[in-house]
Amino acid sequence: MEFRSMIAEAIAEKTGLPAEEIAGLLETPPNPELGDFAFPCFRLAKTLRKAPPLIAQELAESVALPEGVGSAQPAGGYLNFTLDRSAQARAVLSRIYAEGARYGGSSEGAGRNVCIDYSSVNIAKPLHIGHLPSTVIGNALYRICRHMGYHPVGINHLGDWGTQFGKMICAYKAWGDRETIERGGVDELVKLYVRFHQEAEQDESLNEAARGWFKKIEDRDPEATALFEWFKKITLEEVQQVFDLMGIRFDSYAGESFYNDKMDRVVNELSEKGLLKLDQGAKIVDLSAYKMPPCIILRSDGATLYATRDIAAALYRKDTYDFAKCLYVVAYQQDLHFRQWFKVVELMGYDWAKDLVHVSFGMVSGTEGAFSTRRGNMVKLRDVLNAAIEKTGEIMKEKSPDLENRDAVARDVGVGALVWNSLYNGRIKDVVFDWDTVLNFDGETGPYAQYTHARACSVLRKAQPQGEIDYSLLSDDESRGLIAALAAFPDAVREAMDKYEPYLVSRAVMAICQAFNRFYYQQRIMAEDAALRNARLTLTDATRRVLAIGLDLVGLAAPERM
Ligand code: ARG
Repeated sequence: MEFRSMIAEAIAEKTGLPAEEIAGLLETPPNPELGDFAFPCFRLAKTLRKAPPLIAQELAESVALPEGVGSAQPAGGYLNFTLDRSAQARAVLSRIYAEGARYGGSSEGAGRNVCIDYSSVNIAKPLHIGHLPSTVIGNALYRICRHMGYHPVGINHLGDWGTQFGKMICAYKAWGDRETIERGGVDELVKLYVRFHQEAEQDESLNEAARGWFKKIEDRDPEATALFEWFKKITLEEVQQVFDLMGIRFDSYAGESFYNDKMDRVVNELSEKGLLKLDQGAKIVDLSAYKMPPCIILRSDGATLYATRDIAAALYRKDTYDFAKCLYVVAYQQDLHFRQWFKVVELMGYDWAKDLVHVSFGMVSGTEGAFSTRRGNMVKLRDVLNAAIEKTGEIMKEKSPDLENRDAVARDVGVGALVWNSLYNGRIKDVVFDWDTVLNFDGETGPYAQYTHARACSVLRKAQPQGEIDYSLLSDDESRGLIAALAAFPDAVREAMDKYEPYLVSRAVMAICQAFNRFYYQQRIMAEDAALRNARLTLTDATRRVLAIGLDLVGLAAPERM
């Protein structure tokens, strides 16, 4: 049996609280010195009519310690359990080997779908640095969901609808050239768009023409449709290169235009349910009772809006995937938008409105010099990625001059450095981007985590663990600290899933790296004594395995040599 359940049962015996509930309450202490499990006694204060510290004190004296548990110590309102070091080593390492690639995961999501709407590129616009958080947070959540047994559905809700596409066609017809665009890609499309706005200031008739072209797109006119699809193809090909570099794949690119023929259902249903109100020609859902501005469904000219499309998309996703959750990884600036239309879905009577989650995040900003401002403040993601790869390549040329396939490794590490930077703090915190921090191989960075994994691999190339392990040989402080960090990993993944906060996984990975490096410097892994060497190699191998899982969960590659 697991220590968690044994401890829970011992507490249940004394308190009458169900063991299962106690198991859920047991925490990992913030620091291994305090112990391996902490029971918060606050939960009992009411029923027992006693202060938590007193409960902790009394429990410490009365609780029967299960085999393998060394002590129970009160600390404030907590009761901290410390395991026998060798029993803990045996439990953690056997679990890591038994669960293999599934370590830290679960099957709680089996048979359930989770839709994740992330990255959500806009057609004919560059993918810029602002898209980084959504892309990497969404990708990490995708992987974490999968690890928890869910079936994730990654959706890139393309911004591919709106009057701007009429302007694009108009500009292309006037000044564009097919070959230039095929060669120059999205940059050329943006140039045309900018030019349209400049010229339209002088020539009002251009706006009229643009409206005409947009109408043609709506009416599926062959020429307009072909051009629109072509803009999309150009954009997606370029975006795909970035996703390939980052190892990201989407299951669906159904974007705003996909819902064109699914809007009537929304309008009709809202109208049947008596939710639509006429307001200066527009049709809206009044949300004043919820202290929000109205959600506009149809403009006075009959055009649908961003929110209408999101409602249509949610209905479609529920029908198609019957999701357990539908996550929207979108910047906090759109907070009101999501609160509004989530409320509309709720008012429509769908109880699954509660399963729609806006996973919001803060902004990325550069320190001075972090981003080149050649293209105004539109810093293209591809340029940042390439710069990271290039800079990493230079560092590695110095650090590891003999490394084979250095280019591939520089790619993995450069991309990893950027990805990690967006996943090391709570989502809502704004991210400051600074090359020195991001690429510091010794800081709390992606490269440092990848380097630690490679270091473990390098030790294991010299020797592999084999045969029986004497766990009592892993009782020194560094081994124990490392084992505690490995033991904490599953809880971190679970909490990351519950809170949609991938940084909790990154932090757990970093704690393992720091503990491993302390172990590496303080304890000779390749010890003379064969049994000791074998035990330490096993711990090194377990570390390598868990780091590979953790890096993969946050979307970083784990090269074996650096
Ligand atoms: N394309 C939008 C933007 O760049 C984000 C779309 C987010 N997803 C959604 N279902 N609204 O702002």
